[in-house]
Amino acid sequence: MHSKTIRFIRRGELVALGNVPPDRTLLEVLREDLGATGTKEGCGEGDCGACTVVVAEEDGGRLRWRALNSCVQLAHAVDGRALWTVEDLAAGDGALHPAQEAMVECHGSQCGFCTPGFVMSLFGMYQNHVCRGRAITRELAQEELSGNLCRCTGYRPILDAAQRMGELPRVDVDDAALISSLQQIRHSVSAGMKTEESYLAPESLGELLAARAAHTQAQVVAGCTDAGLWITKQHQRFGQVLDVTRARELRRVEDYENHIAIGAAVTLSDAFDALVAQRPQLKTFANRFAGLPVRNAGTLGGNVANGSPIGDTMPLLIALNAQLVLMKQGGHRHLPLEAFYTGYRRNVLAPDELVAWILVPKPRSGEFLRAYKISKRFDDDISAVCLAVRMELREGRVADIGIGAGGVAATPVRTMRTEALLAGREWTADAAREAAQALRDEFQPISDMRASAAYRSTVLGNLVQRFWLETQGATSINLEQFSLREIAA
Ligand SMILES: Cc1cc2nc3c(=O)[nH]c(=O)nc-3n(C[C@H](O)[C@H](O)[C@H](O)COP(=O)(O)OP(=O)(O)OC[C@H]3O[C@@H](n4cnc5c(N)ncnc54)[C@H](O)[C@@H]3O)c2cc1C
Ligand code: FES
Ligand code: FES
Repeated sequence: MHSKTIRFIRRGELVALGNVPPDRTLLEVLREDLGATGTKEGCGEGDCGACTVVVAEEDGGRLRWRALNSCVQLAHAVDGRALWTVEDLAAGDGALHPAQEAMVECHGSQCGFCTPGFVMSLFGMYQNHVCRGRAITRELAQEELSGNLCRCTGYRPILDAAQRMGELPRVDVDDAALISSLQQIRHSVSAGMKTEESYLAPESLGELLAARAAHTQAQVVAGCTDAGLWITKQHQRFGQVLDVTRARELRRVEDYENHIAIGAAVTLSDAFDALVAQRPQLKTFANRFAGLPVRNAGTLGGNVANGSPIGDTMPLLIALNAQLVLMKQGGHRHLPLEAFYTGYRRNVLAPDELVAWILVPKPRSGEFLRAYKISKRFDDDISAVCLAVRMELREGRVADIGIGAGGVAATPVRTMRTEALLAGREWTADAAREAAQALRDEFQPISDMRASAAYRSTVLGNLVQRFWLETQGATSINLEQFSLREIAA
């Protein structure tokens, strides 16, 4: 099968790589083919951030900058884009970039293994915030560095560096020149597309659905934050890959009177931005989904399609009564999100079908919504239990209720029995206690490395109690209400 030449911009120059297998990771290409060993491999599964690189793409005449984990990105995903590694930041005369200089000044490195990844996350922040005239607050630095782990320096000096780099003399990328180079290679990339290629990345929905119908055996990928691990950890090989993320229609969030439609290829970062714009209380929940590089690559469609029982967006989307739009050539169908799943990581998708849109109703008056994630670490961790509750109260009664749960069954689930118990009832402490017990009785979770069955069951009911307290105005029951500084004061 033909392997398309990958073209991207690095250090202002065009790099063209032929015969790259469709399942070769970007990290493998960097370290093994290009000798760019400054980019490190720590975990090989998107967790530690040592392999972080920054990718820029042209989007509607502007540059969009994203820090990504190169260990789980496929090399073909940088086709038509610009790539920065830690080796590409210093000026020709050796002068360090502010992201590097600040790390030196603030003593942000000891053994140095994590440092290239931190520097690249800092560079991503520099481009997205400092170069756009926005200051980097401590909170922002914490949020955006949550995908980088350091085991010896400690985070305080690195957070200092994040704030310090904006005070150093500015270093700008020539946006206009880069956009022009990207437009040129994009033209040559599109012109060269053939249907027998081993890495298919159609740029329109029509072409994508046609490719899906013609290549039902191809491995569908989006941001590769799940699928990339099947290569690096399970040593699976993909002979042909169908990348959904270039289809322009699926990269959009559309606003309608009563709902928003999120394209399946919208990144988790952008999808959460859209959800938080509607419901600001989801901000902490959104920031606790993996770390920024994973959210920058992973898509909402990928989270839903992957169907992990401990996936985070599905309980929320179920509670919000979200609908999926599945599409194939010449047809589409709508279904409630919970009806998509037929068993552990199984779903109703036909071989020629794709997830195209996720339709999320807008909030109505009287809505009270909370989404809770219980995990061993606060940041960058997978849920043991996830519970989302949406309640509409009218005159003290439950006028409408949606509850989605994760980590308690083989699929993400709607808690039908507990919803039925609450529908139409007066919302009182007794009702909350009964609902907590009903929820515990409704599922028989399993024990695994994340939590025991008993813990999951107990915490599920406790979260209903927490929801009750929050509906009564209690605020000091969430971690996000506390900050280390306040406690120390
Ligand atoms: C370090 C790390 C931390 C993580 N933390 C979290 C977390 O906190 N919470 C959480 O829920 N998940 C987490 N994940 C899992 C992962 O990031 C999400 O599931 C992500 O949304 C997957 O999206 P993707 O675009 O990367 O999908 P991919 O990995 O590209 O694909 C996943 C699956 O979905 C299929 N697929 C993708 N798009 C479509 C489509 N449009 N139509 C049909 N099938 C499709 C693919 O064929 C594949 O089977 C984490 C992953 C990593 C590596
Ligand atoms: S090597 Fe750890 S995130 Fe890539
Ligand atoms: S400096 Fe050693 S792991 Fe961060």
